[in-house]
Amino acid sequence: MKITTLLGSAKKKGNTATVLGWVEEALASMGHEVDRIYLNSKTIKGCMGCAKCRETPDEIACVQKDDAEAVLSQMIASDVVLYASPVYFWEFTTQIKAVIDRSYALVTNYHQPGHTSLMEGKRVGLLVTGAGAYSQNAEGLFTAFDRIAGFLMAEKAGELYVGECSVPSELPDDIREKAADLARSLVA
Ligand SMILES: Cc1cc2nc3c(=O)[nH]c(=O)nc-3n(C[C@H](O)[C@H](O)[C@H](O)COP(=O)(O)O)c2cc1C
Repeated sequence: MKITTLLGSAKKKGNTATVLGWVEEALASMGHEVDRIYLNSKTIKGCMGCAKCRETPDEIACVQKDDAEAVLSQMIASDVVLYASPVYFWEFTTQIKAVIDRSYALVTNYHQPGHTSLMEGKRVGLLVTGAGAYSQNAEGLFTAFDRIAGFLMAEKAGELYVGECSVPSELPDDIREKAADLARSLVA
């Protein structure tokens, strides 16, 4: 399968990138093609809500000309998309939230008859790291992600929260195995 991962942390060697690397390693060892997008190097502005994109359901057709179109195009060309973000103030980071908001351009008629999505049938997953426990920190991201998957008409194929993080060298031993479990569920 063709798998795109979206790294939403600016840190290339941080907790999220480290665990994401373990997921990617497991996917590659199963023979899948994995391509990571480092979102911090992209210019992706916020959605303006102008809804011009809704006039052309078969195309991305956003009026804003930045890096979003290339990122969204790669997502559409993939079988699986894994979103990876640290928790920032009980939310996704700005870098990955911008991609989520701009995916408005992939969908028409949400909550109406004729709901369509350029991501229909794709498998999506979520990896989150945080300093705190799941409860009181990360549950909002996972609830939102389930709804985002529904909005995209995608299938949520796996999720992993790694809490109580300090630095990558202190990540618990069992996380590598949990990362491999996530990899397997993404392509199951
Ligand atoms: C601006 C900022 C806000 C944060 N907010 C939260 C939070 O609300 N809850 C939490 O558990 N951790 C929070 N953290 C901690 C990070 O989520 C955690 O350290 C994460 O593993 C960092 O991932 P990284 O090393 O990939 O950047 C925050 C960190 C920063 C820098």
